[in-house]
Amino acid sequence: MRDNPVIVDQLSKIYSVRQRRGIFRSEKGSVQALQDISFEVQPGEIFGLLGPNGAGKTTLIKILTTLLLPSSGRVWVNGFEVSKHENAVRASVGCMLMGERGLYWKLTGRENLEYFGALYHLPPAARKRRATEILNWIGLVDIADRTVETYSSGQKMKLAFGKALINDAPLLILDEPTNTLDLPSASELRSIVRQLNEQGKTIIYTTHIMAEAELLCDRVAIIDRGKLLALGTVAELKASLRWAKVISVEGVIPIWAVEAVRSMADVEQATRTNKNGATQLTVVSVEGSEILPELIRVLTQNGANIQKLSPQEPTLEDVFIAKTGRSLAEDTRVR
Ligand SMILES: Nc1ncnc2c1ncn2[C@@H]1O[C@H](COP(=O)(O)OP(=O)(O)OP(=O)(O)O)[C@@H](O)[C@H]1O
Ligand SMILES: [Mg+2]
Repeated sequence: MRDNPVIVDQLSKIYSVRQRRGIFRSEKGSVQALQDISFEVQPGEIFGLLGPNGAGKTTLIKILTTLLLPSSGRVWVNGFEVSKHENAVRASVGCMLMGERGLYWKLTGRENLEYFGALYHLPPAARKRRATEILNWIGLVDIADRTVETYSSGQKMKLAFGKALINDAPLLILDEPTNTLDLPSASELRSIVRQLNEQGKTIIYTTHIMAEAELLCDRVAIIDRGKLLALGTVAELKASLRWAKVISVEGVIPIWAVEAVRSMADVEQATRTNKNGATQLTVVSVEGSEILPELIRVLTQNGANIQKLSPQEPTLEDVFIAKTGRSLAEDTRVR
């Protein structure tokens, strides 16, 4: 049973915090960041951890990489229990956490990689070779001998990703690696992640971007407010919404028209987002209902100008909305 690369068993984490109450007073409190989470990651998969800001993703990753201890529950990484065999766990994972803040800005890109190679006890020749290999891979060879402080934030992010590869570990744990990357760089990084996966590496990939999880991950765990809401392949998660119909409406849609749609009897959810200057309304209807004629009537009566109306395949976002009754904070980055 202990042979999966990651086993998380009834994990909870509570942070103690002090809250300020006036200038001289503060009060002890606590934050439940993870609550009774269990799952296993299988060898060779890209496992997505998906959740909005504050869901508990980074906390979970810090526990997996021994930077934090669990409050309760047990966790095994590559067969080692995190609270007992810290060094063995660390040696067996490649980790990208804190992005660019995990780099030495006064060292060059190459020196950073060689330095972290030395921490993993790679002999000098091997770490030089490995650093060059990684720099080629992530496309930073041309600037490898400049200090990191002169890098753009995207270049720093790529180097931080490269750092996770230095010890050639069988398990890679990446915390929002495409954060701050532009479109082409993000998709380049995902393609390197895919290649590494094809070479046999198991990958845990954290993101709050639904589309990214859909594109990349074999299985996805959706977490929200410290709880595991759903776990499965993207197809399985979408199939859990088979009962619902999702209709997308584009056009000029005033807020009161959205309210009117929400109060329709057969409408489960209506979420309004902006898409290329137009408003997009995503309407999820309850089981077996046919709401189209009524939907059009309600929208036009409330002054909406409908430009496009189409039934949709449910997305992971729709699954999230169905499970929480909330939309993820709108992500304006398009990838
Ligand atoms: N050191 C800490 N002390 C107290 N509370 C913390 C600490 N770190 C995180 N938290 C709280 O724990 C919860 C989970 O935070 P965490 O950073 O794990 O979320 P996340 O899913 O990584 O979010 P994001 O997408 O914003 O990175 C949040 O409510 C956060 O405020
Ligand atoms: Mg985080």
